[in-house]
This record gives sequence, C-alpha cells and structure tokens, in this order.
Amino acid sequence: MIISLIAAMSEDRVIGRAGKLPWSIPADLARFKSITMGHALLMGRKTFESIGHPLPGRTTVVLSRTLAEVEGCLVARSLTEAISTAQDFEEVFVCGGEALFSEALPFCQRIYLTVVHGSYPGDVHFPEIPESFLELQREERPDTRPPLSYLVFERVERIEPGADAEELRQKGAEAMRRELYFLARRCFELSLALEPDADAGSDLAFCLAKSGGDPQAALQLAEESLASQPTNTHCLLNLAKIEIFLGDKEMGLATLRKGVQFGGGQEFLAELARVGVRVPPPIKSLPRNHLLNKYLGIMLHRIGVR
Ligand SMILES: NC(=O)c1ccc[n+]([C@@H]2O[C@H](COP(=O)([O-])OP(=O)(O)OC[C@H]3O[C@@H](n4cnc5c(N)ncnc54)[C@H](OP(=O)(O)O)[C@@H]3O)[C@@H](O)[C@H]2O)c1
Repeated sequence: MIISLIAAMSEDRVIGRAGKLPWSIPADLARFKSITMGHALLMGRKTFESIGHPLPGRTTVVLSRTLAEVEGCLVARSLTEAISTAQDFEEVFVCGGEALFSEALPFCQRIYLTVVHGSYPGDVHFPEIPESFLELQREERPDTRPPLSYLVFERVERIEPGADAEELRQKGAEAMRRELYFLARRCFELSLALEPDADAGSDLAFCLAKSGGDPQAALQLAEESLASQPTNTHCLLNLAKIEIFLGDKEMGLATLRKGVQFGGGQEFLAELARVGVRVPPPIKSLPRNHLLNKYLGIMLHRIGVR
C-alpha cells in the first residue's frame, strides 16, 4: 500500500481559511477526483465537515476523537487506526487538514501538490516538504485562473549524478517494485537517454501507464520496445499488463498467451490467474477434470513449471 498526501497550497503554503478552501478552482477539483477515484481518502473531521458528504467512488475514513460515526464513512480515532482500516487499498490519500498532513508526512511515500499561484490569507498551512522527497513531475498550468503548478514528489534516495545506464535501470526496477512509479519513470528516462534498452523502454511504458501518463503514449512505447525484440518476454509481459490496465482485456490475454509460447513462465501464469483465466490443462486433448490432467497438473505445479 502506498500512502500519499494530496493538497493544494498557495505560494505562502496556505491551504484553508475559516474552515473552507480559500479558492474555488474547478480544474484542481477535477484533478483531485481523477487521482483519488477508486481509492481511500483519510481526512480530519473539519475537512470532512467542510466537504459535507462522502465523495462518490471513494472510501472516506474520517479521523475524529469526538464523533462515533459518520454516515457513509468509516471513522478512525488515530492515524494508525485509519491506515489499518484502509490497508486493502493500493493507494491511500491523506487529504488534510493541517495537523493530519504533518502527522502523516513521515509515513507517506508520495505527495501530489497543487501550487496555487498568488497570495491568499489563511489560518491553516501545508508543512515544509522534507529534503528526502524529490520533485519528479511538474506541470505548469498558466491557462487556469488562478495559474497552477501540479507537482508530484516521491520519497527517494537521490539519483546520483554520473550514475551509468545499468545503475539507473536497477534503481528504476527497485522503484517499480516499491510502486514508486514517478521515480521509476525518471530512472528509466535517464537510463534510456544514455543507452537504448528494450526492457527499460517497456518498463518506462508500464510506469507511464501506472502514474497517470498519456495511455496511448505508454502503449506505443511498450509496442515499440517489443518490436525491437519481438520474443522478449519481459516486454511482452509489460505490454500485456498495460493493455489490461487500459481496459483491453482480450488484447492483454492474447499478448500473455504469446508470452507463454515464447517461454514466459510463472509471471505470465500469475498474470493470467490475476485476470481470471485458468491455465490450459497439461493434455489439451483430454478434459480438464480427467485424472491424468489433474495429477499431471499438480505435479507440474509442484516442480514450478505450471
Ligand atoms: N487546500 C487543501 O488541500 C486542503 C485540504 C484539506 C483541508 N483544507 C482546509 O483545511 C481546513 C481544515 O483543516 P484543519 O487542520 O483545521 O482540520 P482537520 O485536520 O480537517 O480536522 C481536525 C480534526 O480532525 C480530527 N483529527 C485530526 N487528526 C487526528 C488524529 N490523528 N486522530 C484522531 N482525530 C484526528 C480531530 O477531530 P475531533 O475534534 O472530532 O477529535 C481534529 O479536531 C479547512 O479550511 C479546509 O478547507 C485544505
């Protein structure tokens, strides 16, 4: 599970005034919605009261020591309790207010921060971001009123200047394993600038898809990486995962089956099982429940080839 903070602050770090947001910015609310949809939100009681209702499509955990229950939400008495309540979610978003942001910062891996350009009077502030967080994405939106910057930080070891392509690929793979997709993207981009590599290209494509990048660009990059090495099972697996992630399950399954043909092993079978497809029986000409298939299947599974 990834714990993320999501906030909008002014250039003076103001996040609220008299129990409300100091601004009304539909573009930022839409971004908040698209980033948090389907996940869990942790928020202080006053933040919840300022919104007034649970947000659709998300599980809201309200932190409070005074309220016993809140309709449509879960209630937690502490941050630890709130995190354990939401432990089954892939990403949990701490949405404020001030004290909760500060309390959650040491536990969080990612920060989505909107900087609202301009100065606003206020009574609650966003904490200073520790140096252990690296800014990995910045999108300037001078067209909105007021102008905004969308920033994403992840808690990371610094990327050493002078790191070679192999070191960067390893760092990217480690970040990917920890689901730090923005950091992984940065590492793979830097490694690819030094040296082309089909695996790194396809890993970059996967991280792009998982971190809200342009889905078509992710798919195209995964296809290009595979085209440079058409039997590369790592590229096939990433392409399949992207296709499934982007909603094209049939295409993803076809790619997974191709990967199995080219010798892809457990990872392909695990992905097939994850999307709900059963592995074909060992002897396809016999029914799945035939004794030979049953015992051969168990044996092959035990020796790790099925
Ligand atoms: N710009 C942004 O991104 C953003 C985001 C969120 C909020 N805001 C603004 O921030 C303001 C509200 O924030 P706030 O800091 O005043 O209040 P808040 O954090 O939303 O709520 C404080 C209350 O939450 C409960 N609480 C907080 N930490 C807790 C913990 N660890 N365990 C149990 N309960 C806990 C307590 O409720 P009880 O008193 O019931 O015990 C506490 O009084 C509003 O102006 C809102 O608009 C802005």
